[in-house]
Formats: sequence, C-alpha cells, structure tokens
Amino acid sequence: MSLIDTARAVRENAHAPYSNFRVGAALRAASGAVYAGCNVENVAYPEGTCAEAGAIAAMVAGGDMEIAEIAVIADSPKPVSPCGGCRQKIAEFAAGDVVVTLATTDGLILQTTVAALLPGSFDADYMSHI
Ligand code: THU
Repeated sequence: MSLIDTARAVRENAHAPYSNFRVGAALRAASGAVYAGCNVENVAYPEGTCAEAGAIAAMVAGGDMEIAEIAVIADSPKPVSPCGGCRQKIAEFAAGDVVVTLATTDGLILQTTVAALLPGSFDADYMSHI
C-alpha cells in the first residue's frame, strides 16, 4: 500500500463535523514503519488536531523519531497544503530534503519538500548559546 493509499484510507476515520473537511496523513519513518493520522475536530474549535499531527503522534508513540516520507490527502480543488503549525511539527522530525506528497481525492498530486514548505525554519541551532 502506498503512503497516499494509507492516507486515503485513514481519512475515512476523520472526525470533522464542524468543517466537514476530512484529511488523512501517512508517514514512513526511517525504520520503515508506517503511521497514519486523521483530523480530529472538537466542539471547542481550537482543540481540534490536524491529520499530520495525528500521524506524528502515532509515530512518536510507536518509538520512531525520524520521518523519511509523508503524504497528506483531502477532497480539495488542489493538493492540500499543511498548515503552518503542521509544517513546524513535520520539521521537528524530518530533514529538509524529505519529500512531502500533497494530494486530492481526485488524484491530483504535488510533491514538495519539508524545506520548501518551511524555509528559514526555527530549529535547535538558534538556541545554541543557551
Ligand atoms: N487540516 C488538516 O488536518 N491538515 C491540513 O493539512 C489542513 C487542515 C484540518 C484541520 C481542520 O480539522 C480542517 O482540516 C479544516 O481546516
């Protein structure tokens, strides 16, 4: 099963009664293990979580710390783009050259990288004087 297929399948489990915008994400860790997540909204809107955040939480809970590849899918007119917060979350566990596949349920695909999605990202180097 490709990462996109895994993301497409987990998207079916999204809890998105407020936006009706269901998102699925899947990532392959450096170990080879695949982790998936969907968006989980909440009646207290800011408490909702994105699909990418769910996949990353599953990865860390599974004992992996390095993203080798990640894919996101939604029913949108163009390949769905991770929000700013998720870009930072992905960058915590992925090198800049890691491929991010953005997809629509209709089959449009855009491949980019972590560095392209979050140029000039804040990382631990900025705290090296501490
Ligand atoms: N959402 C994601 O899960 N991932 C993205 O990349 C974009 C947005 C979710 C958050 C919210 O539940 C819904 O999509 C609408 O913003």
